Amino acid sequence: MPDQATSLERIPTVIVGDHDELGCLVACRIAELMRTRGRAGRRTVLGLATGSTPIGVYRELIRMHREEGLSFAQVVTFNLDEYYPMDPGSVHSYHRFMWENLFSLLDIAPDNVHMLRGDVRREQVGEECRRYEDAIRAAGGIDLQLLGIGRTGHIGFNEPGSGIESRTRLITLDLVTRKDAAADFFGEDSVPREAVTMGVGTILEAREIVILATGEHKAHIVSRAVEGDVDHEVAATFLQRHAATTFYIDTAAGARLTRVATPWLLGPVEWTPQRTVNAVTWLSHETEKAILKLTQHDYAERVEDEAVE
Ligand code: GLP
Repeated sequence: MPDQATSLERIPTVIVGDHDELGCLVACRIAELMRTRGRAGRRTVLGLATGSTPIGVYRELIRMHREEGLSFAQVVTFNLDEYYPMDPGSVHSYHRFMWENLFSLLDIAPDNVHMLRGDVRREQVGEECRRYEDAIRAAGGIDLQLLGIGRTGHIGFNEPGSGIESRTRLITLDLVTRKDAAADFFGEDSVPREAVTMGVGTILEAREIVILATGEHKAHIVSRAVEGDVDHEVAATFLQRHAATTFYIDTAAGARLTRVATPWLLGPVEWTPQRTVNAVTWLSHETEKAILKLTQHDYAERVEDEAVE
């Protein structure tokens, strides 16, 4: 990919064909890190995420464990978040999600698994969050943090308004997030109103960050996070300030990136019939003119000039 084609992208972004391919690619990166550190006699500290997006990565890690002998005996994990209040045994808990979808299928030592507790009393939440931060530090910090992204642009549960220096804490969930979780809870009213989450600042301390998104419903927030300005209204934009973050997305989630949606804005393109249709439709939207009212001047101004240089 030539530099100019991605020049609007402020987070290095890799677009893959589908969810399975994404899972393999990211699992390979994690396995490589584990092996490199293992050879040096060092443990690997992974920051892990829940949600449907990382499932493919977890499936592939489990396969590597079973078929290739990839061992997790020297791996320490810290999960991003948990609903509050939440019993760890509940079917809705992230504890249960992680044990069912990953930990119980690996040779990881239970003592090496760390998850924020959603079942402590409210007055103990602050202490629980401090204890978590201390445990991350005591483990030597996170080597690789895996992230998904919510439609509000949250990472972990850092909803709009979360600052770049925010730490592990209790947070009120955004309405959009609660709507997205409604199906899992058999109705929006049953979705907890709060959660405990690592802060943006906590996440940014990871040495490497891998953020994932799949599906067209994520296309808007992906382009906002990758190409938009850094803004506390969209926590994922803070990843632009991190030196070793890679965004892995599928083609559907990448649909609104400039290099996919309007590549003629980045430089010369090959004008296939489909691309021509896309460009004309786009120009009509941009100029708020019907297609048949578009003039040579409109084309020259907005499309050709950009493309010909
Ligand atoms: C929840 C989690 C996030 C996750 C997001 C997206 O809000 N707290 O960590 O990234 O959901 O979930 P999904 O991958 O299912 O779209």
